[in-house]
Amino acid sequence: MHIAVLAETAANERRVAATPETVKKYLALGASVGVEAGAGAGANIADAAFAEAGARLGTREEILAGAGLVLAVQGPDPAGIPAGAVLAASLNPYQARERVAGYASAGIEALAMELMPRITRAQSMDILSSQSNLAGYKAVIDAAEAYGRAFPMMMTAAGTVSAARVFVMGVGVAGLQAIATARRLGALVSATDVRLATKEQILSLGGKPVFVEDEEAKAAETSGGYAKEMSDAYKAKQAALVSETIAKQDIVITTALIPGRPAPRLVTAAQVASMKPGSVIVDMSVSQGGNVEGSKPDERVVTDNGVTIIGFSNYPSRLAADASALYARNLHTFVSTFWDKDAKRLALTEGDEIIEAIRVTRGGQIVHPALQG
Ligand code: NAI
Repeated sequence: MHIAVLAETAANERRVAATPETVKKYLALGASVGVEAGAGAGANIADAAFAEAGARLGTREEILAGAGLVLAVQGPDPAGIPAGAVLAASLNPYQARERVAGYASAGIEALAMELMPRITRAQSMDILSSQSNLAGYKAVIDAAEAYGRAFPMMMTAAGTVSAARVFVMGVGVAGLQAIATARRLGALVSATDVRLATKEQILSLGGKPVFVEDEEAKAAETSGGYAKEMSDAYKAKQAALVSETIAKQDIVITTALIPGRPAPRLVTAAQVASMKPGSVIVDMSVSQGGNVEGSKPDERVVTDNGVTIIGFSNYPSRLAADASALYARNLHTFVSTFWDKDAKRLALTEGDEIIEAIRVTRGGQIVHPALQG
C-alpha cells in the first residue's frame, strides 16, 4: 500500500503528519511512502531527512498517485486524492461540514482522528490528548512572556517578589498540563471545572480546586469523559464564583470545551475589568468561539484597564516539532493496529469501536451518526 503524507496548506499550520521515524516504521510494515516536498519545513524536518528515511519526495500530484492511505494534520482539499483512498487527519467535522461532504462525493473514506474514543486501547492514538498536553504547556509559557512580573516568589536583598496567582478554567488534558507547568514555574495555582472528578487531579498537582458543588455538577460528565452543556442555574452559580475568584488573579488560562458545541463563555467583560492592570488571560478555546468575552483569534488584545488577552487559534502548531512527533506516532499506532501484515495494507475492521467512532465518510456517503441531518 502506498501512503501519501501531505504538506499542510492552512495558515499558521507548521505541523506535519509523519516524521522520518514513522516513515521508517511504515516501510517496515511493507508500505511505500511519498512525502510532499517541503511538508516538514515548519517542524524543522528537511526533505533530505525524509528521503534518508526511505520516503519518496514529490509534488502533491506525484505522491498522491496510487495512494491507498493519505495522512495529514488538518483536513486537506479532496482534489487529487484518489477515490477509494483512506484519509486520516484532524478533520474538524462539526465545523467543516462542506469539506466532509466533499470527501464523500470524491469517494474518500475519511477518518476524523479527533473523534477517537477515550478508551484505554486507543490512548496512544489519541491526537487530542497528545496535542492538548503540549498546548497547555505553551499557554502558560505565553502567559509568562506577556506578564510583566515573575511567576515564582523570590526573596532577595532588595525585598520580596510575590508569586503569581494563576487560575486555570477547564481541567482536561490541556488544563492539567497548564496547572503542572504553572506550578513548576512557582505560581500559586487554583483551578475549576464542571466535572467534579477533576478535583482530586487538581489537588494532586498542588493546585487549589474552586468548584460549584450541586446536584447537577455530580452528573456533569458524560460516559465518554467529556463535559455536558450546563443549565442556566448552574451557570449563574459558576459566574458568581468566578467573579469572586478572578479579581484576585494575575493570570487566567481558559481551556473549556464541549464536543460539537461552541466553547462555553466563562469570563465576561465585567469580570475582565475587575482584574488588576498587567494581568494576563490566555483563551485556549478562542477558535471554538472563546471562553472569554473580547478574546480574538491570533491577536493580543489589551483592555482599557490594562489586562492582556491572548488567544492563538492553533496552539500545537506553536510547538510544531514536538507536536508533529507525537501526532505522527499517534497516526502510526493507529495504522499499525489496523494493518493486515499478510496483505501489507490497512484493513479497517468492520464493527470495531474505534473505526465506528472516527469514520465520517464511506462509499460516497456521510456515515457518522453525529453528522447526520
Ligand atoms: P475538553 O478539551 O473537551 O474540555 C476541556 C475541559 O473543559 C474539560 O475538563 C471539561 O470538563 C471542561 N469544561 C467544559 N465546560 C466547562 C464549563 N462550563 N466550565 C468549566 N469547565 C468546563 O477535555 P479533554 O481535555 O479532551 O478531556 C476530557 C476528558 O477525557 C478528561 O476527563 C480526560 O482525562 C479524559 N481523557 C481520557 C482519555 C482516555 O481514557 N483514553 C484520553 C484523554 C482524555
